Order: sequence, then structure tokens, then C-alpha cells
Amino acid sequence: MELAAIARIVLRVVHAVAAVIWLGGGLYYMLAVRPLRRGSEPQVLDVVQRAQEGFRQWSVAATALLVGSGVALMFDRLADGRGTISYVALLALKVGAGGLALWLAWSVRPRRAGRARASRWVFGSGWAILTLGTIAYVLGVLLSVLYPPDPGAGFR
Ligand code: HEM
Repeated sequence: MELAAIARIVLRVVHAVAAVIWLGGGLYYMLAVRPLRRGSEPQVLDVVQRAQEGFRQWSVAATALLVGSGVALMFDRLADGRGTISYVALLALKVGAGGLALWLAWSVRPRRAGRARASRWVFGSGWAILTLGTIAYVLGVLLSVLYPPDPGAGFR
């Protein structure tokens, strides 16, 4: 098997694993962690904040890996010249939804530990971000099922 084919497989696996970490962490936060803030006792807020800090490196790494592998996959898929209009349109929708989700999550992320801001998501945007991320996820799976890439094709 040639190197390019291996690289393509690695990129897809990295993208898929990073997607699960990013979406799973967001869902767990929204369903299990964020509701705890309602009580607003200092100890509870402290635990919420620590939980977020504990996940921060994972979400930063997942974001970097999603963008890095996503951009590489995108150029690779478009470069094979087999992209139909419907493929390119779906891909554009997917990249738009995924890019927007990542950008929104990045711009409302907690900046500094130890501040009230650390546990606040602006305008309750958490569900909007997760919805966009889920759209990107589902479209990603659909694209790879409807337009299966040829793993043995190598980079062209
Ligand atoms: C929240 C953000 C994102 C999520 C949850 C996500 C999720 C996924 C998933 C689950 C797949 C299917 C993997 C496979 O079966 O091979 C996929 C494929 C893909 N993703 Fe993403 N992704 C996100 C962001 C991005 C971004 C920002 C880009 C581009 C800059 C991107 C580009 C791609 C490409 C090109 C594919 C391959 C589509 C194909 O098979 O033709 N993704 N994505």
C-alpha cells in the first residue's frame, strides 16, 4: 500500500476520533455539567469550573485536529476531479456547519481559570453550536457513504 493511501486513512480516522471527542464533550457539558450551575453554590460552581478546565486541553486538541485533518481531506477529495455538483454542495454545507460550530465554540470558550466568565457560554449558544456540529457530523458520514473515496488511489 502506498504512503498516500495510508495518510488518507490516518487523516479520516483522526478526523472521526476528534469529532467524537469534540461532540461528546460538548453534549456531556450541556446535559450533565451546565445544569449544575443553576444551584450556584460556590462549591458547585467550583466543581463545574474544574470540570471545564479538565476538558479544555482535549477540546483545543480536538479543534486543531478537526480543522487540520478536515482541510487536508477537503483538498484531497476535491483534487480527484470526481466531485459532482451535489457532492461539492453537500461538502460546502458540511464544512460551513462544522467551521461555524468550531468558530462559535472557540469564540465563547472560557478564557481564564478562576473567573466567573469561565463557566459562561454567551447567549445560551451551546445548543446552537452542538446542532451545527451534529449537522457537520451527519453530513460527514453521509458524504463518505454516498461518495465513497478510493483509499488506494493515492494523492493526486
Ligand atoms: C464540529 C466539526 C466537525 C465534525 C463533528 C466533523 C465530523 C466529520 C465526520 C464524522 C466525518 C466522516 C468521517 C469518515 O467517515 O471518513 C467527516 C468527514 C469530513 N470532514 Fe468533517 N467534521 C467537522 C469539521 C470539519 C471541517 C472544519 C472540515 C474542513 C475544513 C471538515 C471536512 C471534512 C471532509 C472533507 C470530510 C470527508 C467527506 C467525504 O468523505 O467526502 N470537517 N467529518
